[in-house]
Amino acid sequence: ILMVAAENGALKGAKVGGMADVIRDLPQALAGVGIQADVIMPSYGFLTAQGAKQIGEFDVSFAGRHELIKLYWLAHPLVPGANIYLLEHGLWQSIPGQIYSQGTKDRPFADDATKFAFLCVSVAKALVTGLVPMPQLLHLHDWHTGCLAMLRALAPEYQALQAIECVFSIHNLALQGIRPLGHDASSFAAWFPSLFAHLDVTQLADIIDPRYPHCINPMRMGIRLADRVHLVSPTYAKEVLLPSQPERGFFGGEGLEADLQHKADQGRVLGILNGCDYPQALTKKSFKRMGLAEFTALLSDIESALVQWQATQSQVRGVDMIAFTRLQALWRQASLEAFPAFLLTSVGRLTDQKVLILRHILPSGLSVLETLLLQLQQTQPNALFVLLGSGDPEIGQFFQTLAAKYAHFVFLQGYHEALSQCLYQYGDLLLMPSSFEPCGISQMLAMRSGQPCLVHGVGGLQDTVEDGVDGFVFYGEDIKSQGEALLAKLAEALEKFDSSDWTQLKRKAKARRFDWRSIALDYKKQLYNIL
Ligand code: GLC
Repeated sequence: ILMVAAENGALKGAKVGGMADVIRDLPQALAGVGIQADVIMPSYGFLTAQGAKQIGEFDVSFAGRHELIKLYWLAHPLVPGANIYLLEHGLWQSIPGQIYSQGTKDRPFADDATKFAFLCVSVAKALVTGLVPMPQLLHLHDWHTGCLAMLRALAPEYQALQAIECVFSIHNLALQGIRPLGHDASSFAAWFPSLFAHLDVTQLADIIDPRYPHCINPMRMGIRLADRVHLVSPTYAKEVLLPSQPERGFFGGEGLEADLQHKADQGRVLGILNGCDYPQALTKKSFKRMGLAEFTALLSDIESALVQWQATQSQVRGVDMIAFTRLQALWRQASLEAFPAFLLTSVGRLTDQKVLILRHILPSGLSVLETLLLQLQQTQPNALFVLLGSGDPEIGQFFQTLAAKYAHFVFLQGYHEALSQCLYQYGDLLLMPSSFEPCGISQMLAMRSGQPCLVHGVGGLQDTVEDGVDGFVFYGEDIKSQGEALLAKLAEALEKFDSSDWTQLKRKAKARRFDWRSIALDYKKQLYNIL
């Protein structure tokens, strides 16, 4: 099969969110059930330096112009026999870790919708010309690849693609790539002028979003025009069939519920949970029982993470140094007994999806997060809450303000793999209060280290954490009651903390397996229909 995706964690700098982990792990898992999964994606100008060699070039007609694309190949670094194809063109030029753009003054059309429509037509061309071998099945990921489902179904020059099956995975319905249909250079009619001129009314209905009659919606194209649609957890696959009610704190189909329901009626919508990697050597480390030697080792772990980060800081957006130094100081100062008695952790992108509940203002006039910090201070005087994440600067500001006010709240703005590993390994409880979560990976990574999680019972969180058994799950009818339920669950957790119940909880969390190998079988049988 051939995967088309914007992100790929198997290569450096091509990760933004959890989709990259899936694109890294899935080919490996599929190899285990006898399926060769290749990946095709943009080179972004920097991925070719990771051992790729040029194997061809070809012409693509896009927005009325002929553009030259260079095709690179490299052996998959993790999967013997599997291939990665990279497409190179100036339009996809970006910097490591920041492959998405919003368009800039000097490159007004370099917005994501245009870039990925261009990717889709380039992949289609590479396949029909035979430069990239025609797979048995095309596996598209998220809205970035929706136009490819459209070209396969509607463009006469890519009809050859109809001979192969096409499945579409949705990692996050909140981002749909909606774009004007109309005539400026960053709109559908200009991207594909000859195709647009020939579309009939039924065909237009597949590409135009009825909510916005002057816009196309690539996510919706994927849903309507692929053979099967996959969502990254069984619960999310049910949630998306219902209309979103943001005022109630419920995020379902994001306006595409009718399209998804239509597909589901035909038995073409599937929920399969993402997996997680389980290396042999993972052990849970705990602050509480740590001797001085171990504590020193931890600091040096963190320091080496920092050194690593400094070495790569031109490539990776780094962690806020001031907060990091403060964290080190806090830990260094701590006498042995006064180690954080309870380390609450959180790792994730700073988006509304992840922080809406934390930022909600309760009738007391305080946000849920501030109330939580006060609650923590009162029940566990030596507690520490460390939050690692990057994203929306306005959300960053919200956390920074609270970090300045509460010494036991450390906000590390940025992202660093090794540092996030430290939090998964050393934390006592990982908080994941997402308003919606298609699957989620942080909770799995924490659990595999034996760290229980406190999560909102939605999407993949609901499918991975079992309340009172291996973690804590809260529910609420609207954002306010979700916030209150979170605080009540935290109180419950703090009460259980360090009891024999807690030991059980940790053991059960560590024992849970979301193993890619068995998940790959579900992909094979249910999604790919390969016998
Ligand atoms: C997106 C979703 C996340 C999911 C990931 C991989 O990032 O927000 O829940 O785990 O994709 O499928």
